Amino acid sequence: MPDKLGVAIIGTGTIANSRHMRALSQHPAANVVAVYDVLGDRAQEFATKWNIPVAASDLGQVLENKDVDAVIVSTPPFAHMEPTLKALEAGKHVLCEKPFALDPQEAERMTKAAEKAGKHLAVCSADTRCDASMRRAHELASNGSLGDVYHVRSSQFRVRGRPGIDILKDVHWFLDSKRAGGGSLIDIGVYQLDVMLWLMGNPKVKTVLCTTKMGIGDPAPAPLKQDVEDHAVVMFTTENGGSGILEITWSSNIAGANAFLVFGTKAGLRFNPLTYIKPGELNPRRASEEKVLDVPENDRSDFGNVSVQFVDAILAGREPWTPARDALEVTRVIHAAYESARTGQAVQLS
Ligand SMILES: NC(=O)c1ccc[n+]([C@@H]2O[C@H](COP(=O)([O-])OP(=O)(O)OC[C@H]3O[C@@H](n4cnc5c(N)ncnc54)[C@H](O)[C@@H]3O)[C@@H](O)[C@H]2O)c1
Repeated sequence: MPDKLGVAIIGTGTIANSRHMRALSQHPAANVVAVYDVLGDRAQEFATKWNIPVAASDLGQVLENKDVDAVIVSTPPFAHMEPTLKALEAGKHVLCEKPFALDPQEAERMTKAAEKAGKHLAVCSADTRCDASMRRAHELASNGSLGDVYHVRSSQFRVRGRPGIDILKDVHWFLDSKRAGGGSLIDIGVYQLDVMLWLMGNPKVKTVLCTTKMGIGDPAPAPLKQDVEDHAVVMFTTENGGSGILEITWSSNIAGANAFLVFGTKAGLRFNPLTYIKPGELNPRRASEEKVLDVPENDRSDFGNVSVQFVDAILAGREPWTPARDALEVTRVIHAAYESARTGQAVQLS
């Protein structure tokens, strides 16, 4: 087994810096050897900042590079598919930023391309799986400690956190449905749907009902335009009789109400801190609560983030978290949710 993975980064903006290079520059098994961005100056600046040998002038130059084993695609959503397909065709493993795709057709094309190439294609919505509490919750869900996990609820409320308006003020594609695919649901709900389905054993989703709302907070300042939602509520059912409810906002007038709850037939879980809940032995009408992990919800200091997990998985010859097939299912749910919000009807997926 090689002890280092040669990595290239495509798209050298906010997340390439703050998620990928921040983690990989500290990771002994990662060797970032090349970068490319449509804005050449940006790639050069990035390469200089992080001491990366090659700032390529085009994508082909990256993909021909024999030192590149894997590619991280960290472009905006409208530009995920093209570099992902080309990298797979060139025989590279790919970690694609979230949301995987603008629609299920794109997601299917990329999933099939990975199968055809025999290479790993993973998606950054796996990032939440890296949290210590989420990894422990998944162990408890998988080893039978919860019984049948029949329902998961996630409620995540930002007060004012609209990208392009309240945060990341210079990056405007987040507000444009054609380039981003949607608003809070596809942008950050994607992480929640990923772990909700993961904890349920990745069942197929059967029915999706959704409503969305835009216009919470001051409108985007002219000339900016926003045509994507600030708030979304999704309910889904699964083929094996499970259900989920997701409330996800970029902008709301609620605080202190975030929750992630896992309902099993034997026991349940509440997060932050991770707490195992079941009927009390002496009095089953009262809950018995046991703190399982006393770390903040998003702690992964023992493990690293999605980029580190991807590098380690490829080097170890195992499948990275959130493989394309899981991300394809999440893409189908999100697409169905937007259709439901548009039509006011539940959408049947299977
Ligand atoms: N910003 C965040 O907080 C954040 C967090 C998690 C995930 N993400 C995801 O990461 C991805 C990138 O987001 P970002 O915030 O870094 O965006 P960004 O706009 O800051 O950076 C994207 C970079 O990609 C480049 N680019 C665009 N099209 C390209 C192409 N075809 N080939 C090569 N380079 C291209 C742009 O020039 C830019 O430098 C998105 O999918 C986003 O959802 C962002």
